[in-house]
Amino acid sequence: MDNIAKLTSAYKSDEDDYEKSLRPLSFKEFIGQNKIIDNLKVFIKSAKIRKQSLDHVLLAGPPGLGKTTLAFITAKELGVNIKATSAPMIDKSGDMASILTGLEENDVLFIDEIHRLSPAIEEILYPAMEDRSIDIIIGQGIGAKSIKIDLVPFTLIGATTRTGLLTSALRDRFGIPLRLNYYEYEDLQHIAMRSAGIINTGIREDAAMEIAKRSRRTPRIVNRLLKRVADFALVEGLSEIDMNITQYALDKLDIDQAGLDDMDRKILKTIIENYSGGPVGLKTIAISVGEDTGTLEDFYEPFLVQSGFIKRTPRGREVTKNAYDHLGIPYFPVGRSNTEQYLFDDEDDHPEE
Ligand SMILES: Nc1ncnc2c1ncn2[C@@H]1O[C@H](COP(=O)(O)OP(=O)(O)OP(=O)(O)O)[C@@H](O)[C@H]1O
Ligand SMILES: [Mg+2]
Repeated sequence: MDNIAKLTSAYKSDEDDYEKSLRPLSFKEFIGQNKIIDNLKVFIKSAKIRKQSLDHVLLAGPPGLGKTTLAFITAKELGVNIKATSAPMIDKSGDMASILTGLEENDVLFIDEIHRLSPAIEEILYPAMEDRSIDIIIGQGIGAKSIKIDLVPFTLIGATTRTGLLTSALRDRFGIPLRLNYYEYEDLQHIAMRSAGIINTGIREDAAMEIAKRSRRTPRIVNRLLKRVADFALVEGLSEIDMNITQYALDKLDIDQAGLDDMDRKILKTIIENYSGGPVGLKTIAISVGEDTGTLEDFYEPFLVQSGFIKRTPRGREVTKNAYDHLGIPYFPVGRSNTEQYLFDDEDDHPEE
């Protein structure tokens, strides 16, 4: 296997075969995100009419919303090859150079986790994206020479869960920046029904909606929950997934009505109980709950913010009244801790307070 083949095929996402089997392969199968899909379709069509490469595309958004899926669909709809790799795998300039020089005309180069590229590798990408050329240094010391290599037209598709970590220089070089949003419940319900069909499991519409509502508005989680609920249904000897077994299974999995899991609730409780509801820094929360900061920032926090349980403030994260209500903890106005409030309530007994 040559170098490029190794670099691009050694890339393996952590998804299992189950997830792969459910991955939409065309726009027809891709449910939801209509606005960005409609635009993307136009740009793809236009590129095909012009017989040119599609502009570089940046796909941003929380995990499991379909970034990788869309990259592959885009290449397929363009009718070109896709080479997929992930930023942490490219650690030498030479690796980046050989991937780029190995591309065929109008190919898609997919770089996952693109916010993790090292500055030196990014430097190579700038002229590659803009002028379709790279400068490589041959030799060392006084004898070192820089030579310019022309590249064929290609489309870079970058995926990131963290646009904030992307340098503006890199971000600005993507002609088509697309941000994926959390899905609508109807779309997730549709995804659950489609996936149930693929795994040959019957499912009632209301049960599919229940899974949708408890899935953090994320297709990947719909599919995971569906699989678990299907396990419960099978063991109970049911011929299809109904509302009863769905609620039973999701309760057993400790996924609550708002779709929060144990870790979500632990995060909220920790901020409330240990930090008087905040504001508190993300790192401090991460240490308190024993979760890594990246996972907290990429996965847990965006959904808690989106659901209105956490607010991001310049001084840190704060839980909202919604969170107290959801957890059944009495709420006291921000800026005054629970303990202080109790003292305050007892003011008459403690005139010095
Ligand atoms: N629009 C959709 N319609 C149907 N299924 C979808 C859709 N989007 C995603 N999925 C399902 O969710 C799974 C996860 O999607 P994907 O791997 O593309 O997410 P991602 O955004 O790349 O996540 P990560 O940030 O973790 O890499 C896919 O395998 C697919 O089965
Ligand atoms: Mg992905």
